[in-house]
Amino acid sequence: MTAQTPFSQGSGQSSSQSSSQSSSQSSALSATAWEQRYQSGTPRWDLGQPAPAFKTLLESADAPQVGSAIALGAGRGHDALFFAQQGFAVTAVDFAPSAIAALEPQAQAQNLSLQLLQRDIFDLVPEFAGQFSYVIEHTCFCAIDPVLRPAYAQLAADLLAPGGELLAVFFTHQRPGGPPFGTTPAAVRQLFEPLFEVIALEPVANSMPSRRGEEHFGRMKKR
Ligand SMILES: C[S@@+](CC[C@H](N)C(=O)[O-])C[C@H]1O[C@@H](n2cnc3c(N)ncnc32)[C@H](O)[C@@H]1O
Repeated sequence: MTAQTPFSQGSGQSSSQSSSQSSSQSSALSATAWEQRYQSGTPRWDLGQPAPAFKTLLESADAPQVGSAIALGAGRGHDALFFAQQGFAVTAVDFAPSAIAALEPQAQAQNLSLQLLQRDIFDLVPEFAGQFSYVIEHTCFCAIDPVLRPAYAQLAADLLAPGGELLAVFFTHQRPGGPPFGTTPAAVRQLFEPLFEVIALEPVANSMPSRRGEEHFGRMKKR
């Protein structure tokens, strides 16, 4: 039995259970399971607003220059819409139809032109290889089977143009099981450093109360 974490709704699994399964084989992590979570009511991971760490970043003196960005596991798209509002050319990807369906009218209402893809993120390459200046990550990394994390890091690198950056809010909680599967800053470094120069990896100071002390913001440049 998995501990009840902010995302789990009785369908979570332990990472040891998942270690012999790929994402597509694991029912709790399938597109169908995520779609059911959206259909069953308010998704517990949905902040209803952009991640505070992204707001801080885009308001800072070190804000990334406007460019093309892809949001992986974008959900209802609060982060994707926020980057689009700031002038980024955003592609939002999620394999749950309800997530994309919720995003589309919001983009239209705000007169924002986003590319919306209902796709498995692991099917994006080669089609979208090298096409983006930024990869936006917020609670997708913690939603996939941990055995797929090396593939995720490679995917992020493959999607980026030379010199592109991964802008990520990592859920660094220490509870067992998931989703959301936790991680540590050390594990993040070990995973991404072969492919990325880590520009910043630091605790998020202004997390929402439910995630306080459990988020790290990472900014990494593709090698
Ligand atoms: C915890 S939710 C986070 C959603 C959004 N980033 C947010 O913060 O509200 C994880 C999202 O990743 C999506 N997802 C998980 N695995 C995926 C995959 N392999 N391909 C595409 N989307 C995926 C799920 O459908 C879900 O919308």
